[in-house]
Amino acid sequence: MTSSDRPMNDADPGTQVGRRLTLRRPDDWHVHLRDDHMLAGVVNYTARQFARAIVMPNLSPPIITVAAAKGYRARILSAVEPGLTFEPLMTCYLTDTIDAGEVERGFSEGVFTACKLYPAHATTNSDHGVTDIRNIHRVLEVMQRIGMPLLVHGEVTDRHIDIFDREAVFIESILAKLIEDFPALKVVFEHITTADAVAFVEAGASNLAATITPHHLAINRNAMFDGGIRPHFYCLPIAKRETHRLALRRAATSGSAKFFLGTDSAPHTAGDKEAACGCAGIFNAPFAMESYAKSFDEEGALHRLEAFASENGARFYGLPLNEGLVVIERQDVNVPSRLATSSSEIVPFHAGEKLGWRFVPHDEPV
Ligand code: NCD
Ligand code: ZN
Repeated sequence: MTSSDRPMNDADPGTQVGRRLTLRRPDDWHVHLRDDHMLAGVVNYTARQFARAIVMPNLSPPIITVAAAKGYRARILSAVEPGLTFEPLMTCYLTDTIDAGEVERGFSEGVFTACKLYPAHATTNSDHGVTDIRNIHRVLEVMQRIGMPLLVHGEVTDRHIDIFDREAVFIESILAKLIEDFPALKVVFEHITTADAVAFVEAGASNLAATITPHHLAINRNAMFDGGIRPHFYCLPIAKRETHRLALRRAATSGSAKFFLGTDSAPHTAGDKEAACGCAGIFNAPFAMESYAKSFDEEGALHRLEAFASENGARFYGLPLNEGLVVIERQDVNVPSRLATSSSEIVPFHAGEKLGWRFVPHDEPV
């Protein structure tokens, strides 16, 4: 069944959507699945909701070769529970010394879907990241020529720049020039958090797009300091003030094909978050679609969720749209305060909250 011949939602899209929302199966264009025990503990949350996911390469050591990506892809697939169909799309971590030939070979063999640019020391496991964009010019030339997307963590790393300004400064000091130098390169500005990024992406050509996370649609920076320090709302790029959250909501629900779903689900154990120097990252995979549905509903834009979650990203990447369907229904769901994996506990986004939406499992009769 394709989305054009499927049953309509309970009410007309565009007016009030009813109890049930049927969508083309969505994809997650930015996720951290980790490795080993953590991979086994988290991957099925993503695989239950999403058909495909762009898997971040910031393991330790990072994924920088075709062989490493193939091995990682196989480990991901073997951790997916039977009955789920899930396609991990692998990425290559750019370093100062990355081999352009290896990148091109990985793309042409269908192993690498994209390359990820972490400015060195910007975030978790980015120590091997790029110290100066000029160091990767040759690789960017190759990527531009072969149509391989560049995924950008858009923050400067200068400790003298205020943490809340690092994305805006990155646009002015690095991204604008990069796009000028490589006008035909496909660029995804990942997990945008500011009105500045929204405006920059909107003003750019059609080969510039952005992902938006569920948490940046839901929280502003107050969440991190609500009655005390709240490490589970700490991620990078850090949540900004309310005006920026509202700009992200406008962008996500605008209907523009330049904005699409990327959860940036980034699990860390509860202990690694609740520490004197807690890790950055929000684990939102277990209730990702519910969270997006809540934000789109609050904006009166549920009829725009399908394009954002299931169409815009695939079209940008030049990949086919998924054929399957998923159902999300209005129903109160209590988000657990902690989720146990085989080796640790992780606190999910929305822990302890009641969400008004439920993602209906694929094997549940509807
Ligand atoms: C990510 C992680 O933990 O790997 N953390 C985060 O806060 N988003 C890395 C990243 O995407 O910045
Ligand atoms: Zn990320």
